[in-house]
Amino acid sequence: MCGIIGILGNDPVAWRLVDSLRRLEYRGYDSAGIAVSEKAGVRRIRAQGKLSGLESEIRNNSEPKGTSGIGHTRWATHGGPTTRNAHPHKSGRVYIVHNGIIENFKLLKDKLTAKGAEFQTDTDSEVVAHMIDDALSQGASPRDAVASVLSKLEGAFAFAILFAGDDDLLIGARRGSPLAIGHGEGENYLGSDAIALAPLTNKVTYLEDGDWVVLTRQSVEIFNEDNQPVSRDVSFTQATTMMVDKGRHKHFMAKEIAEQPDVVGHTLAEYVDLAEMKVDFGERMPFDFNNINRLTITACGTAFYAGQVAKYWFEKYARLPVEVDIASEFRYREAPLSDGGLALVISQSGETADTLAALRYCKQHGQHLAAVVNVPESTISRESDLVLRTYAGPEIGVASTKAFTCQLTVLACLAIHAARQRGTMDEATERRLVGALSEVPRHMNTIFDGESHIDQVARQVAGARDVMYLGRGVNFPIAMEGALKLKEISYIHAEGYAAGELKHGPIALIDEEVPVVVIAPKDELFDKTVSNMEEVAARGAKVVLITDAKDVHSGGASVLETINIPAADSFISPFLFCVPVQLLAYHAAVFMGTDVDQPRNLAKSVTVE
Ligand code: AGP
Repeated sequence: MCGIIGILGNDPVAWRLVDSLRRLEYRGYDSAGIAVSEKAGVRRIRAQGKLSGLESEIRNNSEPKGTSGIGHTRWATHGGPTTRNAHPHKSGRVYIVHNGIIENFKLLKDKLTAKGAEFQTDTDSEVVAHMIDDALSQGASPRDAVASVLSKLEGAFAFAILFAGDDDLLIGARRGSPLAIGHGEGENYLGSDAIALAPLTNKVTYLEDGDWVVLTRQSVEIFNEDNQPVSRDVSFTQATTMMVDKGRHKHFMAKEIAEQPDVVGHTLAEYVDLAEMKVDFGERMPFDFNNINRLTITACGTAFYAGQVAKYWFEKYARLPVEVDIASEFRYREAPLSDGGLALVISQSGETADTLAALRYCKQHGQHLAAVVNVPESTISRESDLVLRTYAGPEIGVASTKAFTCQLTVLACLAIHAARQRGTMDEATERRLVGALSEVPRHMNTIFDGESHIDQVARQVAGARDVMYLGRGVNFPIAMEGALKLKEISYIHAEGYAAGELKHGPIALIDEEVPVVVIAPKDELFDKTVSNMEEVAARGAKVVLITDAKDVHSGGASVLETINIPAADSFISPFLFCVPVQLLAYHAAVFMGTDVDQPRNLAKSVTVE
């Protein structure tokens, strides 16, 4: 996901733009640039790689003094991560930064080429600059030129557009990618999100899909996709200006793994009455689970695995049929949804394009809409009937960790709430389960006591060609989450599998070169999981056993390493077993020297298809 900032200021903006771009680094990027309006024209400075490269370029090229400008961090989609392809892109007087994908850009580019346009880059974004410039050359005003071009674009975009020769004009537009207006004192701004705008203002207006805006320092004019003037709410965000930092940790991911006891406890406190040991959603719920006949859960990546865990809880405790699907599939398969169902989307960022599209599909098909999100001002939040926040705090590491366990926290409470409303759970069971949830932070802290051992195990796993993760029941999704963590930050191929499924094919992969991580809580499936462990060990696999059982008799199977975790109510096993697999992935990646917080090819939030 790219990052956008635009400033119509009263002071030099070059370093203010960079400061905001630094708050957008968490999104992942591979180049950056700014364009600053000066009396002699617009100064454009760009650099491949991290912001430090852009900062050097600014210093080495006599820092621009202009007071209006735009900036961008780019996560490459069309065209390699080079300086040439870095934003801002330009054509004539027009300078543009873009987040999203213009799906019909090739057709538009061919038309412009036929009219003699020459392109400097391989990007879709440059085509838009040329289209606006072409409209200007035909006598259109900047606002009319932009309006005419927007209607020709297909796909997703957020734009900030600067015009040489007019340093009191900034035009923005959004369709599918987030964009917000920042309201200053005699200044106005555009930004991808509240975090980018935080150093400038906490007074923001979120544009809605199809909106575009004409800014001067003294005015804000918003139009909808029919070019009709509209007004949008001004809100005061909670995004802080303080830079989220790593504290005593080497990486944001390490910090965020370590924060889990606190943020799980903080999130839990929002949804339970610990004095009464029962869940408490207050007045939040716009529907009664007695009237819900089916629950559809959809999300992407780690959030999807949280949804899969939730399926076991809702079906086991609330006796509610649940379908879970990845949003990129769900949004296109035309799932039949009966009226009165509940659609639950899960998203840390609240901006994931596939998940947002799935939410909109459910809205069109008469579903109640609930969202578990970590960013309350996000697009998914704004389009849902019920927003169930996680209180993980900003999650900077691209690999999701604390957001995941906070999602589990909300989902566990919601499943208990549903069971109580549907009369499938008695008070004693509710007290037991809420009591178990209240012990999660303490048990997590105990697991951290064994981190150095997990680091040693990780070094034995690092460098493997393939790693297999096995789990059963509610911990099958944890096996898949563990595999995802390992592959996305260490680049080792890994698969999470239902342990019982191994003999139906994947066991052919097992030999002495394949570490197998076995997630084996001492629950009703424990003996079956140990049998699966013996099957792989008999074929030479290096078994890493993660368990809360004591003295596991593995029938002669050679266990390379055992990671012991505290014995606890099996209800909270997903919370506890995900911490060792997070740490295993983290330490393997550190050992292998990969970019743990911003792994190659990945972005923190995927706002494009
Ligand atoms: C997980 O570590 C990844 N970063 C990725 O799978 C992520 O969970 C997915 O893109 C969904 O993001 P969201 O929660 O912001 O919607």
